[in-house]
Amino acid sequence: MASITNDIAETAVLDARSSVAAADPCAIVIFGASGDLTHRKLIPALFELAACRSLASRFAIIGFARSEMSDAAFQDSAAEAVRKNNGGCPINDNDLRSFAQSFVYVAGDYDQPEAFEKLSRRLEELDEERHLEGNRLFYLATPPAVYPRVIAQIQKAGLAQPAGDNSWVRIVVEKPFGHDLASARKLNRTILEVFEETQVYRIDHFLGKDTVQNLLALRFGNGIFEPLWNRNYVDHVQITAAESLGVEQRAAFYETTGALRDMVQSHLLQLTSLAAIEPPSNFDATAVRNEKLKVLQALRPYTPETVATNVVAGQYAQGQIDGEDVAGYRQEPAVKSDSVTETFVAAKVLIDNWRWADVPFYIRTGKRMRRRVTEVAINFRRAPHLLFRGQGIDTNTMVLNIQPEEGISIGFHAKLPGQQMRLAHVAMDFSYLAAFGASERSAYATLLNDCMRGDATLFDRADGVEAAWAFVQPIFDAWERQRRSVPAYPAGSWGPREGDELLSRDGRHWRKP
Ligand code: BG6
Repeated sequence: MASITNDIAETAVLDARSSVAAADPCAIVIFGASGDLTHRKLIPALFELAACRSLASRFAIIGFARSEMSDAAFQDSAAEAVRKNNGGCPINDNDLRSFAQSFVYVAGDYDQPEAFEKLSRRLEELDEERHLEGNRLFYLATPPAVYPRVIAQIQKAGLAQPAGDNSWVRIVVEKPFGHDLASARKLNRTILEVFEETQVYRIDHFLGKDTVQNLLALRFGNGIFEPLWNRNYVDHVQITAAESLGVEQRAAFYETTGALRDMVQSHLLQLTSLAAIEPPSNFDATAVRNEKLKVLQALRPYTPETVATNVVAGQYAQGQIDGEDVAGYRQEPAVKSDSVTETFVAAKVLIDNWRWADVPFYIRTGKRMRRRVTEVAINFRRAPHLLFRGQGIDTNTMVLNIQPEEGISIGFHAKLPGQQMRLAHVAMDFSYLAAFGASERSAYATLLNDCMRGDATLFDRADGVEAAWAFVQPIFDAWERQRRSVPAYPAGSWGPREGDELLSRDGRHWRKP
């Protein structure tokens, strides 16, 4: 077992903490303030930032939604959201009280110009009272269908452009960014008619996870891995994002979304592009996003025939998770009894470039799978000449554990102690928890802080999001033409048989994490 010594780890953590820049003073306007995302993710993340002083001392949070509510009631609901969703971290009551006091509420319809005029007046007052320097961050946390209306009203109210030379206006757009390629393009056009690309922050919360960013740190912060990171040494890559949860309260949304839109177009393609990316010349928004785009553009496009052979959908049926009986997808409330919405997708993805030619990336995601695990596994080629035959020698794998375990594990062979030359498979593990202690901050906190500092490196650009949709679009098209049924898999398994066959056909098998 390898481990980082504690003194090194502690110094690193202290350095990391002291180097977190506080954001600029600003007003954060959350559209969809009474929604689930605001309560479960955004408010707790903003509290996290406030509590660790990564928010400027001067800020205001304005909730905008349809239902009538007083500022005081919104402040109470914000405090409640923090208590409920801060992951059990201790809360300092004074911090929470003063944080909640920065909340203000504006009620209004998303189509009502008067509501946006009221918002504009409120922003001016807050600017004056709290010296926010005219900086504004708009967060679209409404259902996506509402985005164009909000954007149009922001423009009409004259709120889209900064008031002064030294102030900024930015907009965060939540996923799903569109429903397909055509709607994603349309949404980009709608946004870019009103905002400059540099003002737009398309969020994918996976990129805020330390372990996802660590893909870049591992590859480009070290000299020892990158020489192996190519078709000469890598046999194939497996990317898994499995969840044991089902669709929970989101069945109505999920019925029209499915796993391909919900997870593959966004999170899985992000992981694929970071695993495959060429070294950027700088760690900045332009260089990193240019390189990610090149990977997405190099993905071999599917044809109707290759969709049939290389992409598998599945839907969970009744089963057991951790010994508990759980319902099948079609038995979930608000799901049609003959639904063909996929809750699982596995695909063989090829990247047509010099580095990755003929190296398959197998990706899979599913709800109600055996356990929650997200990982990127790099499977290396076998040793060219086997000295130790008959000892069940397997290939070497490096697993980047994204969650819930966070770390890296390298599997290799070692000599067993004793007279004979016998080999055993062992693992060298690096654990974030053992090395650095508990995780510092949530993905949303990291990304919100980045927006307020104007760092778009971890956000999608218009061309990137469209390239990801362009890659999955032929799958939707083929499924629309042919799909009458979806293979079932029992809840608590690793997906349908067809998913296993995707690899067994190539003489490989999925890892069982
Ligand atoms: C979201 C999806 O983007 O990511 C959800 O809409 C999914 O369906 C979630 O459960 C997974 O995120 P995490 O961070 O919990 O792995």
